[in-house]
Amino acid sequence: MAAKLLISCILSLFLTFFFKPSNAAYNVIDLGAKSDGETDSTQAFLKAWAAACSSVKASTIYVPTGRYLIKNIVFRGPCKNKIAIQIKGTIVAPTDYHVIGKTGNWILFVQVDRVSVIGGTLDAQGAGFWACRKSGQNCPVGSRSITFDWASNVMISGLTSINSQLIHLAINSCKNVIVRNVKLIAPDESPNTDGIHIQSSTGVKITGSIMQTGDDCISIGPGTRNLYMSSIKCGPGHGVSIGSLGWGVNEDGVENVTLTNSRFTGSDNGVRIKSWARPSNSFVRNVLFQNIIMKNVQNPILIDQNYCPHNQCPHQASGVKISQVTYRNIQGTSATAEAVTFDCSPGNPCRGIILQDIKLTYMNKAAATSSCKNIGGMSSGVLMPESCLYEG
Ligand SMILES: *[C@@H]1O[C@H](CO)[C@@H](O)[C@H](O)[C@H]1NC(C)=O
Repeated sequence: MAAKLLISCILSLFLTFFFKPSNAAYNVIDLGAKSDGETDSTQAFLKAWAAACSSVKASTIYVPTGRYLIKNIVFRGPCKNKIAIQIKGTIVAPTDYHVIGKTGNWILFVQVDRVSVIGGTLDAQGAGFWACRKSGQNCPVGSRSITFDWASNVMISGLTSINSQLIHLAINSCKNVIVRNVKLIAPDESPNTDGIHIQSSTGVKITGSIMQTGDDCISIGPGTRNLYMSSIKCGPGHGVSIGSLGWGVNEDGVENVTLTNSRFTGSDNGVRIKSWARPSNSFVRNVLFQNIIMKNVQNPILIDQNYCPHNQCPHQASGVKISQVTYRNIQGTSATAEAVTFDCSPGNPCRGIILQDIKLTYMNKAAATSSCKNIGGMSSGVLMPESCLYEG
């Protein structure tokens, strides 16, 4: 009997030593956050971050249900171990849009590694800022809702962001980022409220996400490599855009981008590549758009190398070299007669473009058309509208 007790005693000691939860946990409420949506909880979030970031154990920051008013906040790394931020509640910006609008970023992660953001809602309350911009007043620069700069091994899962002032989620100079099951929502007419903007980043993967915005659902900037996007629902919005590229002469290009199994509904564009009509060393290569459904999309397939809104450039030949872009199994309806528009640079024609099994109609009734300028490639399978590519 005594031996049995001793054994179970030793066993439980062993268990507490070796199998006790090795996570450190910080609840923002315990650190002074208020879930009333009115009390400024920024300091409590910063305290939670400071504790988590200096913890040698992996840690979790909990944000329980409720509304938390947060001003501009920077979560800075490097940290000692991985950090998960589990959000049940809603993080709201102050109603006065000047507060977060001054600095360009509302919630900013800098130089973090192995951080995940799980669940939660961000509400930047952007309406006042959009109204300011529309009225042509003197407005602050505006803020992106959540930004990762120089981060690696990041996961953003199950996050909802509504009414951002500008971009909802920005990924700059990052490596290995997973974005899944996010919802990014802003009104159709809200200016520059892109869903996700990616730039100078390698290995970003976006899956199972919904974007209804006033600008691009996903915008892909210079220096984006190995980007994989699947099961994206876009619209309203301006579609998935590579670019605008080629504003600068010496600019990094975009390569190895895949968008698959996705749907565009009522968006201005479907899959778009655009570059400024200016000299540049930039490029776009090795891109695959496949298994895509378009529903009532203004420009389902578009390459625009004469992008020059408001005459901001002298309409020169774009220097951006576009090659090896494949469009495979894209079907549905175009809201305009011209479903496929390839307007490539007269100085740098698009090369190696592949069209395979394209079935787009004009509003489900009439045949759609296509137009080609300065583009070469190959086509195969069913092609509606007919391909206008020349061999090249
Ligand atoms: C292209 O990107 C994918 C991710 O979508 C990656 O798995 C693959 O290794 C990349 N290819 C090259 C040649 O880098």
